[in-house]
Amino acid sequence: MTDTVGYAVRDNVAVITIANPPVNATSQQVRTGLMAAIERVEADPEAGAAVITGAGRIFVGGADITEFGKAPLEPYLPDVVNRIEECTKPVVAAVNGAALGGGFEIALGAHVRMAAHTARVGLPEVTLGLIPGAGGTQRLPRLIGVGAAIDIITSGRQLSAQEAKKLGIFDDVVEADDLLNAATAKARSLASGEDSPRPCGQRPRPSIDPKELEAVRKKTAARHKGQIAQLAAIDAVEASTRLDLKDGLVEERSIFLTLMETPQRAALIHAFFAERRAAQLPEIAGVEPPPFAEIGIIGGGTMGAGIATAAAMAGLSVVLVEREAEFADKARQTIARNLAGAVERNKLSQEAHGRILNERLKTVVGYDALSNADIIIEAVFESMDVKKDVFNRLDTVAKAGATLATNTSYLDVNEIALATGRPQDVLGLHFFSPAHIMRLLEIVVADRTDRRHVARAFALAKRLGKVGVRAGVCDGFIGNRIMSHYRLAADYMMMDGASPYEIDAALTDFGFAMGPFQVADLAGIDIGYAARQRKAATRDPRERSVDFADTLYHKGWLGQKTGRGFYVYDGESPKGRPDPEVLDLLSEARREAGIEPRSFTAGEIQRRYMAAMINEAARVLADGIAQRPSDIDVVLLFGYGFPRWRGGPLHYADAYGLENVLVDIRKFAAEDPFYWSPAVLLEELVAENRSFSGLNDDSQVS
Ligand code: NAI
Repeated sequence: MTDTVGYAVRDNVAVITIANPPVNATSQQVRTGLMAAIERVEADPEAGAAVITGAGRIFVGGADITEFGKAPLEPYLPDVVNRIEECTKPVVAAVNGAALGGGFEIALGAHVRMAAHTARVGLPEVTLGLIPGAGGTQRLPRLIGVGAAIDIITSGRQLSAQEAKKLGIFDDVVEADDLLNAATAKARSLASGEDSPRPCGQRPRPSIDPKELEAVRKKTAARHKGQIAQLAAIDAVEASTRLDLKDGLVEERSIFLTLMETPQRAALIHAFFAERRAAQLPEIAGVEPPPFAEIGIIGGGTMGAGIATAAAMAGLSVVLVEREAEFADKARQTIARNLAGAVERNKLSQEAHGRILNERLKTVVGYDALSNADIIIEAVFESMDVKKDVFNRLDTVAKAGATLATNTSYLDVNEIALATGRPQDVLGLHFFSPAHIMRLLEIVVADRTDRRHVARAFALAKRLGKVGVRAGVCDGFIGNRIMSHYRLAADYMMMDGASPYEIDAALTDFGFAMGPFQVADLAGIDIGYAARQRKAATRDPRERSVDFADTLYHKGWLGQKTGRGFYVYDGESPKGRPDPEVLDLLSEARREAGIEPRSFTAGEIQRRYMAAMINEAARVLADGIAQRPSDIDVVLLFGYGFPRWRGGPLHYADAYGLENVLVDIRKFAAEDPFYWSPAVLLEELVAENRSFSGLNDDSQVS
């Protein structure tokens, strides 16, 4: 036995307890301990059967992340699960909480599965570019059928105990407090021969109609466009229909090991660690975040209402201040709608929905209501004058030590801070729309921001279930600054001959959730218009400007909300359909600008877009706006629909080869040396044969 696996005999049943906090991960020690425990059960005359359970509130949360990406260490988990299944005495899994990945596979190796009401199961391996590698793809279809197994494995989703029971994964579900007694009673009845267990591996091979399987394959390929693990998982499950368990496990192993070596696997592992790394911030190491219970929000429009929803759902009290009663009421209605949506998506109970609206949310007029708020977030119009006025008024009502935050998209947080007498309490909290759904939160640290507020902002991100990323002050911070730049590349290509539809198609083929012109239609072409007007005043005269979207704006084609923008939204396709009139307008605009249009391949569109993104990202890094390359990846992954399986723009840049990126940029520079001037950092990295990932080393973070 090891320290992480306990063994105790109770009334003729050996209770094997996995105790490896915080999540009882299947570390090498746990695997060794489980092997030894099964050996001991077989040899123990006192034990007629065994129960495997987890200490605390989790059964087994999955693999040990310190072993991720490394050569596996013996004993291997598949062998442990096989050993459990082959145990000569009955084994009952008492699933006391989450059983995920390898944890679920351990439970599948047991001969009977009992669960607490609070238990959950899932096989999230595809989210890391893998398939379950310890028998999950062979045992689960034998237990619940091919279709249901494919759904669980390819989605990576978690199932409640109730759903798992309905599908036949759990033999019984009981109250958490009764689980161990019920499981040991079951084990005893199995030991006495009253009940006979039916290990998954001994069940007959499952079957599925080949046509049905083909349809599932097609649907999965469409849903997870560009990704390989989901289809590989279907291949592995399909093997369970043709092979006996032993050969099926060999096939599963072979697919698993092939996936381990793929770039997608590397990208997804990078994304996983990048998210964790973002929360590591040397400047707040050891700083205790001041507690917070009440959040004040100023402005109840799109963002304010979304932020209020997120805060209330996280159990915080919310006071939202609007200009007039009419807008305050409207904000309340928006929040109620957001909450109802959360109830529909099973993110919130009906009861909590009511409690929030009755007890935890005030929507009012008048700043005095903010006097008790610990953190105040301003989300009024994007105008420096309006924001300064708000912060000036806040200075008189906010309590001492309150964090004063602005949700500005682009404006100078230092200037906003100076509108108060306490600039040390001011920072940016840049949420993304819809704020109760999007997980990114840029935490913008201004010149004088006190570290305690930074620590508090990261604690708030965690509380809201968001990924906080530190950003410095500049026009657009990390994400919008990079986006404003690569967005221009799309406009230039459009003017030079590519249609907006070709550009969107090439980029969604690359893996982006949406193309730039679909995004423009969704956000509203009026929003872009306002930003363009503001930018025009300060634009470098060497920068090529494209104002085609203004043509649409002046026609009142503002995007989805008006039924027409770059696309037409007439109900035929929810995504909109290409508009020949837009193409005519474009041809005219090109003629007027004296441009001879040329064609672009999808590959060239992707290369230009990515080169522009990487180039500006390198400048953001060199300017110290982002503290490390992987933080930029996190921002683009969580805020801008960058495909996770490509790891983020800078992970992608390393994989594509920085030298190749530079070659592309220099080639494009021949036509527009200003826009395509290579970032100095990129040139340096290429000259020194280094990569962005080398800069992620946390010891190099200043
Ligand atoms: P919005 O126009 O939907 O809402 C602004 C709200 O502020 C309105 O309801 C208005 O009545 C209220 N307001 C204006 N002045 C006020 C005052 N003095 N006191 C109280 N309430 C006042 O705007 P939206 O889209 O919510 O944007 C708000 C801020 O968030 C802007 O700075 C914007 O740049 C930023 N932002 C917007 C994002 C988006 O996708 N819409 C994303 C991230 C940030």
